[in-house]
Amino acid sequence: MDRIRLRGGAPLEGTIPISGAKNAALPLMIASLLTDETLTLENVPRLRDVQQLFHILSNHGVDWSVEGKRAGQDGMSGQTIHLCARAIVDTTAPYELVSTMRASFWVIGPLVARMGVARVSLPGGCAIGTRPVDFFIQGLQQLGAEIEIDQGYAIAKAPNGLKGGRVDLPRVSVGATHTLMMAASLAKGETLITNAAREPEITDLAACLTAMGAKIEGAGTPEIVIQGVDRLSGARHRVLPDRIETGTYAMAVAMTGGDVTLDHARADLLSAPLSILEEAGAEITNTNRGIRVRRNGAGIRAVDVTTEPFPGFPTDLQAQFMALMTRARGTCRITETIFENRFMHVQELARLGAKIHLDGQVATVEGVDQLRGAPVMATDLRASVSLVIAGLAAEGETMINRVYHLDRGFERLEDKLGRCGADIERISG
Ligand code: EPU
Repeated sequence: MDRIRLRGGAPLEGTIPISGAKNAALPLMIASLLTDETLTLENVPRLRDVQQLFHILSNHGVDWSVEGKRAGQDGMSGQTIHLCARAIVDTTAPYELVSTMRASFWVIGPLVARMGVARVSLPGGCAIGTRPVDFFIQGLQQLGAEIEIDQGYAIAKAPNGLKGGRVDLPRVSVGATHTLMMAASLAKGETLITNAAREPEITDLAACLTAMGAKIEGAGTPEIVIQGVDRLSGARHRVLPDRIETGTYAMAVAMTGGDVTLDHARADLLSAPLSILEEAGAEITNTNRGIRVRRNGAGIRAVDVTTEPFPGFPTDLQAQFMALMTRARGTCRITETIFENRFMHVQELARLGAKIHLDGQVATVEGVDQLRGAPVMATDLRASVSLVIAGLAAEGETMINRVYHLDRGFERLEDKLGRCGADIERISG
């Protein structure tokens, strides 16, 4: 298994190109199941999760291809992919595939909407929390599907097609909103989703579905109204920039000091974390290329943070922010409200010398003057990258094991940081 070795201390200076968003690319790829025409997606990141989803979609009969490089493109440009589900050859998503990536459960929506049947493995446990799928099941039932759970599979049936209905989500769920929006696009009649997720990735999926012929209003607000249509067509859509990758590198710069432009980044996708970073002492400016992040001279200030659904501070940046706070002057409280077990990084940060006290969903972080490198590992991707941020500011060598988690969600991380002066390398094997 690959490892990443880094030596802390160097400020980051230069430019980091921000990739297309993983958490938009995945539902967009799944939307290809809704049509027998070709869906073309631009700016798709080169990630393990994307590769895995190709594999899962192939099993349902989706033909896919990746466009070759064009003149003037470098290895950092996003890829353009074509997906065509001319015929769905298999409506089962087996355990072996779904258990490797939870988001693949979302195929249940398009499959039952288009084919009248879907048999999708329940995803099972997860490192960051229990992550049940009850909202998906209740929501699809509201759209007329009959659902039974048998031998670890959710079996959804709607032999005469789905019917529009009202779905009141008990709490905000990104995945349930994506799935119900896709399913309702091919249902007969009108669907109302209340307490819908407002994440930019929802708005991106709605834009793509609209380009495919769906009739959706209110995406980006808590109430989404969908008028079902008989069929959807192919479309071409560009994946929006990854706000979590943007926030991660912004925190890395706040940690090491320096001056980095995050190319293609959009500040409107992460206003809450950027203003928290400003409070913590980073200088942030919008430029015509993206976002410029600087921290010179001044130290890092401790700031309290609570994770919330969009537009609040995202849970996917909680671990990275905690890494930053380990070097702050003073003490802060970081409260996780989305997942009940998303603190796997705490013990690993402690191995680098961080002082963190965990009490239920609240971590109290007391900043220290110096972190010291050590071998560390993590069990999910955001926790892994928080160790990279800590390692960039630690004295001596940090070795990150299980890099495979990082490869799920960060495209060429070591190249992007290395180009900005970080002493970082991947050790294969
Ligand atoms: N929930 C339920 N029942 C359900 C669905 C969700 O109780 O049927 C709960 C979850 O257990 C959680 C909360 O609702 O406590 C919110 O979960 P949500 O459904 O919004 O999460 P998700 O759709 O599974 C996506 C992202 C996650 C991100 C969360 C929250 C993708 C592929 N995944 O997950 O991203 O943390 O939204 O913003 O979009 C990551 O990229 O590292 C990652 C984990």
